[in-house]
Amino acid sequence: MRVDVVTIFPEYLSPLSLSLIGKARGTGLLSVDVHDLRTWTSDVHRTVDDTPYGGGPGMVMRPEPWGQALDALATPSSRLVVPTPVGAPFTQATAHALASSEHLIFACGRYEGIDQRVIDHAAARMPVTEVSLGDYVLFGGEVAVLVIMEAVVRLLPGVLGNADSLAEESHAAGLLEAPVYTKPPVWRDLAVPDILRSGDHGRIARWRRDESLRRTALRRPDMLTGPNAPDLDKADRAV
Ligand code: ADE
Repeated sequence: MRVDVVTIFPEYLSPLSLSLIGKARGTGLLSVDVHDLRTWTSDVHRTVDDTPYGGGPGMVMRPEPWGQALDALATPSSRLVVPTPVGAPFTQATAHALASSEHLIFACGRYEGIDQRVIDHAAARMPVTEVSLGDYVLFGGEVAVLVIMEAVVRLLPGVLGNADSLAEESHAAGLLEAPVYTKPPVWRDLAVPDILRSGDHGRIARWRRDESLRRTALRRPDMLTGPNAPDLDKADRAV
């Protein structure tokens, strides 16, 4: 996968060199280039923003530098991703959809956002995904790109060592994962649940399923209703 990130704060994206994303870049599974939007300005002040038409507080990002940037970076296989508080909610399903793309271009907005014509012009040429991480407002899209990249890159074939961990994790089955434990068996008077040390894989799987259901019902009851609700078996319903 190829990724281009356009931002006025390239340093914000330096964590993309660390940990498993950094490793994926090293192995050639992923290439990432971070670009300074001001590269595509043409005035001496390298201006990227201006006052909003219609009035109101804050500044809006001007379309010209964004148009130049997208002209320079777009290929026939590009998808534009714009993190914004007015986007559709970013979910594991969005991460899977983005992970199947050949080329992602992230546009990091700042201030009150990017002139709408940039999005409209791009949408006539390539798929555009406007996504929100949640119902809160960040200073800009940079941190959202870090989050989205983590969620997407770990889905790329060859990035995670153990494919089972993808299949079993929270959200894959439409439920939150059960609590996890490791050694020692007792820590500060707190013991690991006996069942996890029993070696009875059938009962362990049932215990994990029950804990998942309990956790999900308590913390995310919204996940148990609606079109994406998981199929519950007879034993599930008894929990
Ligand atoms: N930019 C500013 N706020 C955001 C949010 N909640 N999600 C994604 N991008 C954003």
